[in-house]
Amino acid sequence: MDGNGRWAQSQGFHRVAGHRQGAKTVDTVVTACRERGVQHLTLYAFSSQNWTRPSLEIKALMELLAEYVRRERNKIMNNNIRLTAIGSIDQLPESVRKALLELMDASRNNTGMTLCLALSYGGQEEIIAAVQKLCRECVAGDIRPENIDSELFSKALWSGDMGPVDLMIRTSGELRLSNFLLWSCAYAEFFFSDKMWPEFDENDLNMAFAAYANRDRRYGAVGK
Ligand code: IPE
Ligand code: MG
Repeated sequence: MDGNGRWAQSQGFHRVAGHRQGAKTVDTVVTACRERGVQHLTLYAFSSQNWTRPSLEIKALMELLAEYVRRERNKIMNNNIRLTAIGSIDQLPESVRKALLELMDASRNNTGMTLCLALSYGGQEEIIAAVQKLCRECVAGDIRPENIDSELFSKALWSGDMGPVDLMIRTSGELRLSNFLLWSCAYAEFFFSDKMWPEFDENDLNMAFAAYANRDRRYGAVGK
């Protein structure tokens, strides 16, 4: 969800106004994905590296996040959405963590769509956490190194229950992965939009889905 800051600056606003506007796009995209039958949507809301931003911007982002979780509660429950999170959740301020964990727990049995928020998330950090977990299990004698295959490794990831990424959408004209779901994007299809996240809309989402529908996914095999 990139481009909040640049969008705000282009309008003569403070960067934080861009994040506020970006939260509205989140709403649009979550609703549209739910309507279209998407089963799993992961939003890269705050990266491990975003902690290096000015403290005022971090504070504003955390407040927006807590506000989002509180405001969207009814919508998430009424639309049968299961809320999950990946990342170093323990690094989040107490106010955010509490609201988040509460709604994650309340929505745990919802089956319409899984909405996963990547918070204090990094793809390399996720891989390291999985390696540490598997090493601990090896040391404890629960598994043997030769038992570790891609299936076991996938399950050890924070995103272990969500499977490989089908479609990765990146906004704001940037052409990089920025430490997002490194393992799970192995065969993801990419869609790049020049739109800044606050101006990304339903029509852009439709274009991304249409592009995806036309891709020939071969997974390294020979095509039809
Ligand atoms: C993305 O917008 C939102 C978050 C990282 C939370 P940016 O803040 O990265 O916006 P730009 O890249 O500065 O325009
Ligand atoms: Mg950015």
